[in-house]
Amino acid sequence: MSHRMRVGVVGAGRVGAVLAAGLRAAGHLVVAAAGESDASRRRAAELLPGVPLRKPSDVARESELLLLTVPDDMLPNVVKVLADSGALRAGQIVAHTSGRHGLAVLAPAAAVGARVVALHPAMTFTGTAVDLERLQGCVFGLTAETAEHGLAEALVRDLGGRATWVPEEMRTLYHAGLAHGANHLVTLVSEAMGLLAAAGVDDPAGTLRPLLDAALDNALAHGDAALTGPIVRGDVQTVAAHLDDISVNAPDTLPSYVAMAWATLDRSVTDGRLLPIRAQRIADLLSVYGGPDLEAQFTRTSAPSEVERG
Ligand SMILES: NC(=O)c1ccc[n+]([C@@H]2O[C@H](COP(=O)([O-])OP(=O)(O)OC[C@H]3O[C@@H](n4cnc5c(N)ncnc54)[C@H](OP(=O)(O)O)[C@@H]3O)[C@@H](O)[C@H]2O)c1
Repeated sequence: MSHRMRVGVVGAGRVGAVLAAGLRAAGHLVVAAAGESDASRRRAAELLPGVPLRKPSDVARESELLLLTVPDDMLPNVVKVLADSGALRAGQIVAHTSGRHGLAVLAPAAAVGARVVALHPAMTFTGTAVDLERLQGCVFGLTAETAEHGLAEALVRDLGGRATWVPEEMRTLYHAGLAHGANHLVTLVSEAMGLLAAAGVDDPAGTLRPLLDAALDNALAHGDAALTGPIVRGDVQTVAAHLDDISVNAPDTLPSYVAMAWATLDRSVTDGRLLPIRAQRIADLLSVYGGPDLEAQFTRTSAPSEVERG
């Protein structure tokens, strides 16, 4: 453990309440939290029993380590207001948990001599005790000046996590990667469950679980090489049948099916697993529903022998 610190959290949202509880479990002293809504008050009562709720500037003044766990769009203003009000001081550790933001947003805190860290847990939070277990092994995307690397890594260790360093100028791309994977996965799985429900399958989640568990494991281990299914096989008629059926029975899902099919097609060709001539037939089919024209790319990558064979 880094030395026992006085921790304050602004605000007691899904992440703030959980990280503060994690630091408390590691032996730090959570001195105060800020949060006004009923949800924040409830979370503070459940996860941080006995910790007083104070206004943000008081929380900042009382803490050696200040966690700023407010929505991304609020963060610049919260840092500025705290700095302008004199609530931040030299030597104080000020950390935020935004994925998108790096150190620039903490400039007003750094200007008064605070030690600033961007400390983003690459995890989805419910704001309940369930999240505490998920901190074990959770990866934290860190950005800090070299002088603060030891401090940031010690905090992550105290939370039971693992550190990965993200350059300041890559924070947004790092966050986009996580959001594309985790958030769009939720949309994709929800849509897949909807299709199975529309097909009359009893237990869509239970039917998908073993398949999706295996697909996720394989994708994480092998990337594009894990791909199976009609697109990478070049089964044009199956893709055509899917498009027809989804158009009729689940039209809301059609745009994302088509968008993902385009991306899957492109990656299958680039990966060398789908002959460009077969890809072109699927591209012609998808074009009916709109999307990028990948013809030039397929033509460029096709070897003459492959074209003849197709
Ligand atoms: N949720 C996740 O899964 C997740 C995962 C990783 C990182 N993060 C990051 O963690 C940060 C917090 O996200 P969250 O999901 O925990 O948000 P959240 O649940 O909406 O909680 C936000 C907290 O900030 C407080 N707050 C809002 N505006 C404020 C302001 N102007 N001044 C002071 N306090 C204010 C809220 O108080 P009231 O309730 O009183 O409004 C609440 O306690 C974000 O940067 C987010 O990107 C989130």
